[in-house]
This record gives sequence, structure tokens and C-alpha cells, in this order.
Amino acid sequence: MSLTSILVIHGPNLNLLGSREPEVYGTATMADHVATVSNAASSRGITVADVQANSEGDLVNAIHAAKGAHDAIIINAGAFTHYSWAIHDALRSFPGKTIEVHLSNPGAREEFRHVSVLSGVVDGTISGFGGVGYALAVEALLKIS
Ligand code: DQA
Repeated sequence: MSLTSILVIHGPNLNLLGSREPEVYGTATMADHVATVSNAASSRGITVADVQANSEGDLVNAIHAAKGAHDAIIINAGAFTHYSWAIHDALRSFPGKTIEVHLSNPGAREEFRHVSVLSGVVDGTISGFGGVGYALAVEALLKIS
């Protein structure tokens, strides 16, 4: 399947990036991370859209709407990563490639962050590289699409 359109999905509290716990998440904003994806994608003729939501239902709806509209999803579901079976099921219904991204390395943090209920339904996960993870996600999508 060719890769022409990527949807970047940001979960709860990621709208606060830039000022939220910069020692953990860095100082780059959500818009900076979208720009990273766009820079990596646009030279390859790939369009990029993004959506942020703090509520689970809005994220589920965004994944449903992506079907037929985008070839791939890059998702940082924030804390929903650790317990949202609704987002798990929504991703399962998406026919394209999916990459889970985390700025921090959840496996090296508090115990509740060690489990991702999404990792079993995405193509792969990139964690712990800060904003670089978004560029790596595009590279991964190009290789696997
Ligand atoms: C995060 C890690 C999650 O545990 C946390 O709840 C977030 C951000 C990350 O990008 O490192 O909101 O997904």
C-alpha cells in the first residue's frame, strides 16, 4: 500500500507540551512535533494532518474518521496508552499502518506506565527519543508501507 497521507493523533495533556514537565517531555510544543512529521513527509509527497483531544471518545472518533482518509496513523495516546481498551479496539479497526510514539521511555518510569494496551495492535512503538521519535515514525512508515 502506498503512503500518501499520515494522521498524527495526540492524546490528553499533549496540548500542554512546551510547558508540561519539560524535564520529562522537553520544551518542544505539539506544533513542533507536527512540523517534524511534516518536514520528514512533505519531501516525499506525503500530506500530514493532526488532531489532539483530551477525551477518549474524541480520540476513538478521530481513529474511525481516519479510515479511508489517511493511509497511516502516528499516535501518542498519552496516559490512555496504559488503559484505554476503547482506543485499542479503534486502532484494531483501522486498516492502515499504525505507529505508537512516546516522547519519554515509559518503561523506565512509574510502574503504571510500563503497560501499553495499544502496543499489541500497532505495527510498532518508538519511545524515549523525545521529538526525534516523530521523524523516526515517518521513516518506519516509509519502510513498512
Ligand atoms: C507519554 C507517556 C505517558 O505515560 C504519559 O501519560 C503522557 C506522555 C509520552 O509521550 O512519553 O502523557 O505518552
